[in-house]
Amino acid sequence: MRKKTSAIIISKNRRLCQDITSRLAPVIGDFEVQEDIAAAYSYIKENQPETVFFDMTKSRQGFLKFTARIKKSMPGTRIFFICPQKDPDLILAGFRAGIADFFLYPFNGSGISESVRRSLAVSAGRPEAEIFTVFSLKGGTGVTTIAMNLAHQIRELTTDRVLLLDLNLFIGDVCSYLNLGTSYSPYDFIQDIDRMDTELLFSSLLCHQDGFHILTTPEEISDSDSISPEMLMQMLSILKQNFDYIIVDSPHDFSDRTLKVCTASDRILVLVQQNIPSAKTGQKVIEFFRELGFDDNKVNMVINRYLKTGEMEDNDFENIFRKPVFFRVDNNYPFAAKAAARGMTLGQAGKHHKITVQIRHMAEKLTGISSREPAGLRRFLQRRLIP
Ligand SMILES: Nc1ncnc2c1ncn2[C@@H]1O[C@H](COP(=O)(O)OP(=O)(O)OP(=O)(O)O)[C@@H](O)[C@H]1O
Ligand SMILES: [Mg+2]
Repeated sequence: MRKKTSAIIISKNRRLCQDITSRLAPVIGDFEVQEDIAAAYSYIKENQPETVFFDMTKSRQGFLKFTARIKKSMPGTRIFFICPQKDPDLILAGFRAGIADFFLYPFNGSGISESVRRSLAVSAGRPEAEIFTVFSLKGGTGVTTIAMNLAHQIRELTTDRVLLLDLNLFIGDVCSYLNLGTSYSPYDFIQDIDRMDTELLFSSLLCHQDGFHILTTPEEISDSDSISPEMLMQMLSILKQNFDYIIVDSPHDFSDRTLKVCTASDRILVLVQQNIPSAKTGQKVIEFFRELGFDDNKVNMVINRYLKTGEMEDNDFENIFRKPVFFRVDNNYPFAAKAAARGMTLGQAGKHHKITVQIRHMAEKLTGISSREPAGLRRFLQRRLIP
């Protein structure tokens, strides 16, 4: 994984500082807080933090000149303004002085963490993959179906490098769902890890005919304990450097391996179905992730196999989970089963079918890319414009 970097926040507002540190803890290792520019300047000169946050919610005095001075002496420093409202003149002047981005406070959604992460990744070279992990503590909820089809739809939408990573190390389902032969597995990857490079990686991984790559276990039972959490993280770190998106088909457990991958994920999609046992399990999962200190915006609830006549509605889930439903995918067993029997993704079995379109919309929501833009423009928007 990318090394965590250091940052300074210039603010007198403790709450704002806490909001920044908790949202950015996964990407920034050390935070220094200074209350005024003078004290901040000597700290910045001495310690050269990579990132600077200016709180402009109470006063903006001196910040523009200070920004220009920092950018002159330390051009690589990323500077972010925190503003109370959108002030076009200030924002324009900020960008002219060299800020990386600005945020409105109070923060809304996960914009700040995504923007800072992207800015760090861009200056570090190739942006690292975003990881979306599909999770359910109960088996049979649709984790493999959603992960596999999200990988397909994200690839179609972005034309970026997308990996479907099946972490069911005992036995994987992906090959049988997609009717693929033997695959290069995480066990093979670990064997090759010391000599792994981009060429070996892409010549070894399975590539689906629609362009997304697959790393999955064989259909026979494997010795999953032979892969330690540390080895798994090493593997993930290499994969992150070589892909734009990694979609994880997660096992139904809270093992060290699963939790490490969940921690490294940008989003976790917790799947539930419309019945009380599934909702109760989902609630435990979400509470557990809260206890682990995961950002609430990172953990998203997805209802799979949704029926209008189902025994629970969105507001029942929202009351139980204390968070909005992120997405719903309808129930259509005949279609899902037909696709699986033919070794096809849902998109291949029916591009315009309702649940295919729903998963495409979920892919749009996750990537921030709309399928209405042509692919070239989508890539540009994704890389350059969307904060
Ligand atoms: N939206 C859906 N509508 C109808 N059937 C679905 C839907 N999603 C998944 N299914 C079906 O539900 C069953 C279980 O799905 P899947 O294998 O994806 O779940 P899983 O959580 O990965 O299960 P496992 O415990 O085997 O890992 C499959 O038969 C699949 O075709
Ligand atoms: Mg599965």
